[in-house]
Amino acid sequence: MLDVNKIREDFPILKRKINGKPLIYFDNTATSQKPIQVINAIKEFYEQHNANIHRGLHTCSQEASELYEEAHDKVAKFIGASGREEIIFVRNASEALNLIAFSWGLNNLKPGDEVITTIMEHHSNIVPWYLIAQKNKIKIKFVNITDEGILRYDQFEKMITDKTKVISVVHMSNVLGTINDIEKISKLAHEHDALFIVDGAQSVPHLPVNVKSLDIDFLAFSGHKMLGPTGIGVLYGKEDFLQKMPPFLGGGDMIKSVKCSLDGICDITWNELPWKFEAGTPNIAGGIGLGVAVDYLEKLGMENVRKHEIDITQYALKRLEEIEDVSFFGPRDINVRGGIIPFLKEGMSPHEIAILLDTFGIAVRSGFHCAQPLHLRLGLNRGTARASFYIYNTKEEVDVFIDVLKKIKV
Ligand code: ALA
Repeated sequence: MLDVNKIREDFPILKRKINGKPLIYFDNTATSQKPIQVINAIKEFYEQHNANIHRGLHTCSQEASELYEEAHDKVAKFIGASGREEIIFVRNASEALNLIAFSWGLNNLKPGDEVITTIMEHHSNIVPWYLIAQKNKIKIKFVNITDEGILRYDQFEKMITDKTKVISVVHMSNVLGTINDIEKISKLAHEHDALFIVDGAQSVPHLPVNVKSLDIDFLAFSGHKMLGPTGIGVLYGKEDFLQKMPPFLGGGDMIKSVKCSLDGICDITWNELPWKFEAGTPNIAGGIGLGVAVDYLEKLGMENVRKHEIDITQYALKRLEEIEDVSFFGPRDINVRGGIIPFLKEGMSPHEIAILLDTFGIAVRSGFHCAQPLHLRLGLNRGTARASFYIYNTKEEVDVFIDVLKKIKV
């Protein structure tokens, strides 16, 4: 198990008071807090090494390039990828999913082709496909969920046809915490020669995820939900696919050579992977910070991270049952649930709950959490309030949350 008290020492923000009360940060699904190791790595980069990458022969540029490239290697190892050529740094999981849709989807999907996704997706795994559907006249099919929030696996089999070219699913729901059976869906996708894409924005920070053993073709996730800075995210892709795909963005560093004649004919060769997909000056400090966040998580061990979250989530679910006028949603089986709990209190809107909890120093998110179709499917037409946990949260914090939740009213 994790030594949570020791971990908490690494997070300066946890010493803060909000409205005179110690901060209880239960909004980890929106973004995690950052340990001092990550904050210091960013500070050190700007104080000691700051220069552009791949563009200078001077010492600082060489150092910056090495640190930034090394961060790709760390991420590759963390998710079991073959190497840095399969790791593209982008801004966030949304950008990673857009990259796949616009580079692979736009060029490979033809009118009538089908993309299967699920009704529990974040908007990031719906809207890019919708944009491609507008252009290429493809069909998007949504697998339903049970009322408890478990995927209707039986529907995949029924929905797949010879027109199914992509199956794209979230690994862990950012609303219900449901952990989907990626291995099962991966097998099904590949048996039907469909591309298998996973939105790992919530799973990669909270569970061991191995792209090889799960046979994932593309995996998208964000750095800021896994102790890293904002503005840096990752697209993992199998090298074969990435080699064949055209660049998503054009510009500096993504080319090897650009020769253009004055009459407008250009001959351009792309840079090697992953740089072919990283046009322009990237978020160098962010990438380095993400590498240090990965070091931090590796040191804790992802199995231990998961165990801690099982422990705290089980406890929170049990304590929430005590409150008669509070309802909560998502699977009851902790084996298929991460540390995310959407809830409502009778007579209060989600936003009222969040505002009142904040007066006691407790941070939760409220609304649709970028997953409106999921809420509407469950009849949660005003959204939910959502508590979500990470490595530094404690059962004592859950106790305070429960006591406050019992007493708040409008
Ligand atoms: N996707 C993030 C959330 O669920 C922002 O809050």
